[in-house]
Amino acid sequence: MAKKDGQALFDLVSGFVYSQILKAFVELDLPELLKKEPLPAWRLAARTRMDPRRMEVLCQGATAIGLLKRSRSGEYRLARLGAALPGVPGLSEMIRHHDVLYRDLEDPIAFLKGEGETELARFWPYVFGQAGTNDPDLAARYSRLMTESQGLVAEETLRAVKFDGVHRLMDVGGGTGAFLRAVRAEYPTLRLRLFDLPAVLEEADLPDGADSHGGSFQTDALPKGADTISLVRVLYDHADATVKQLLRNVYDALPPGGRIVISEPMAGGDTPTRAGDAYFAFYTMAMQTGCARSVVQISELLDLTGFADVEHRPTYRDFVTSVVVARKPA
Ligand SMILES: C[S@@+](CC[C@H](N)C(=O)[O-])C[C@H]1O[C@@H](n2cnc3c(N)ncnc32)[C@H](O)[C@@H]1O
Repeated sequence: MAKKDGQALFDLVSGFVYSQILKAFVELDLPELLKKEPLPAWRLAARTRMDPRRMEVLCQGATAIGLLKRSRSGEYRLARLGAALPGVPGLSEMIRHHDVLYRDLEDPIAFLKGEGETELARFWPYVFGQAGTNDPDLAARYSRLMTESQGLVAEETLRAVKFDGVHRLMDVGGGTGAFLRAVRAEYPTLRLRLFDLPAVLEEADLPDGADSHGGSFQTDALPKGADTISLVRVLYDHADATVKQLLRNVYDALPPGGRIVISEPMAGGDTPTRAGDAYFAFYTMAMQTGCARSVVQISELLDLTGFADVEHRPTYRDFVTSVVVARKPA
């Protein structure tokens, strides 16, 4: 047990280095370089213009954390995790953008005390058009991150919630429409509406037959006409006061019996989780306006708004998203 605990502590101590190995692995595109055949470190070094001895250190480290496998002759090939990584939508983009989060967490005490501005708080508004940016590449990169990572979130959400019998679904804060595109693929005849800030809708790629409605859920009433409203990765961006106002806004827009679907990564509450309470709680804290809430906290906010039949729908991968649904009383 002492050995196991020692190993667990050591993993916590060295986790930061593992993450940086992962980042170098992605930045240097090793999955692409090793896709066809195993290669020795010196060949990888030549292709990436790195010092061969340093590339060997990276390959050994990547092997140790399960991304690569090493043959007796000293060639490296992708291990299962390393091979799977490029195929996970949004994952490489997510790893690439972590430099910003690392800088924000560099002094964890100052961070926890809320001293100083964080970088994450500055760049998300660029992406969503609430602030101008003079760096279109950055904006494009993070929009892509949101859109690509939506693949898994939509997959989990659509497994947990069925939209059969729904007349019209409105996705509030739906960004460029990635969730609605996934819904369209499963429900070809469902009416769909996207609601987001007007600047964001300019970049939207709507699925066939969908319409869009621009506005702010903080200052405008949501349009009526949808009997189901989804909020995918929206609440965790905002403080309680904004969330209460948004839920009230959704409630008012729904007909009696209408349904709300909330899908986002959630904290664990009584049973804190690595994804919800260590990763997303700190990530959203770095964004400054929001927080990761537990199923219980979200359910309480729904209760408070007047929603009934509040229900947690378990997902297969809760590190991707959790789902809570509720109904406006008939
Ligand atoms: C984290 S993103 C999620 C986007 C999308 N639902 C997804 O999961 O990929 C939050 C979305 O909420 C939108 N949003 C933020 N504040 C808003 C407001 N006041 N009114 C309407 N949409 C807003 C943003 O523009 C953005 O598209």
